[in-house]
Amino acid sequence: MTKMQEYGHIVFNKQIAEGIYWMSVNAPDIAAAANPGQFVHMCVHGKPSVQFLRMPFCIYDASADMNAVDICYQVVGEGTEQLSKLVPGEFVDIIGPIGNGWNPPENTQHALLVCGGVGAPALNLLGRALAIGGAKVDAVMGAQTASKLACQEHIECSVAKSGGTVHITTDDGSAGVHGFVTQVSDELIASGAYDYVAVCGPLPMERNVVKAAFEHDVFCEVSMEKLMACGVGACLGCTVETKAGRKRCCVDGPVFDAAEVIW
Ligand SMILES: Cc1cc2nc3c(=O)[nH]c(=O)nc-3n(C[C@H](O)[C@H](O)[C@H](O)COP(=O)(O)OP(=O)(O)OC[C@H]3O[C@@H](n4cnc5c(N)ncnc54)[C@H](O)[C@@H]3O)c2cc1C
Ligand code: FES
Repeated sequence: MTKMQEYGHIVFNKQIAEGIYWMSVNAPDIAAAANPGQFVHMCVHGKPSVQFLRMPFCIYDASADMNAVDICYQVVGEGTEQLSKLVPGEFVDIIGPIGNGWNPPENTQHALLVCGGVGAPALNLLGRALAIGGAKVDAVMGAQTASKLACQEHIECSVAKSGGTVHITTDDGSAGVHGFVTQVSDELIASGAYDYVAVCGPLPMERNVVKAAFEHDVFCEVSMEKLMACGVGACLGCTVETKAGRKRCCVDGPVFDAAEVIW
């Protein structure tokens, strides 16, 4: 897949939850080529001294009709802080689409999306594609607290179209079920209803979801997050240990068959 570089102007950049922003960038070529689960590598155009490395973000939304690539990001350091201050009309330098995305079995009947925190953006386009393909889609979305729940409306939209259900969890009980995502996802997976599980979130959460999927013999894919530098497979800084040896998260992932990863 060819990667493209665009200098896209910001269409909007708005806060949607505590410390979490939704940004839409005009990048027609990347938008037209994007597949669910791929990511973009981004920096603020013209400010390399402030931010040395590009930042990887999952493609939250994109389509040939939109001409725009959307990301949903949490402010955690200098680069994301800088992004959060950009206003419509300003530019970002964006390379993408990068990596291998989700690859659900063709005949998926009933899928479960398990999203932890800002793992949710990685699953939005997958949910939509599965629903369009005729699968029933359920989702479990977890956050530390209600004010940090993000991307709910987008995911709910695909899930509702498919006739499925969104389950919410918060660590502090301020919304939905009081507890971790896995409290709900473990039970759902154990019900035997699913033939596909996709997960994106913090590593311990991913590990537990994958364990439940293995125990109940459900095909499971995982989007992995590794520190990235080059984003083009050259620096080997983002390796993931797999049964077939070391793989680069940026170009061989970020989505992996969970059964291939050494947990
Ligand atoms: C494939 C992939 C998809 C991602 N998708 C999202 C997303 O949709 N939403 C979201 O909020 N976050 C996402 N992240 C994490 C996001 O890239 C980091 O939070 C961001 O790079 C932090 O940049 P910073 O300058 O604010 O923080 P700092 O900690 O100051 O980071 C400095 C530099 O280190 C690198 N870096 C830091 N943290 C990470 C990280 N976790 N992963 C990779 N590189 C990092 C970046 O190159 C960054 O420029 C994703 C990470 C990966 C690997
Ligand atoms: S970030 Fe350089 S090889 Fe993946």
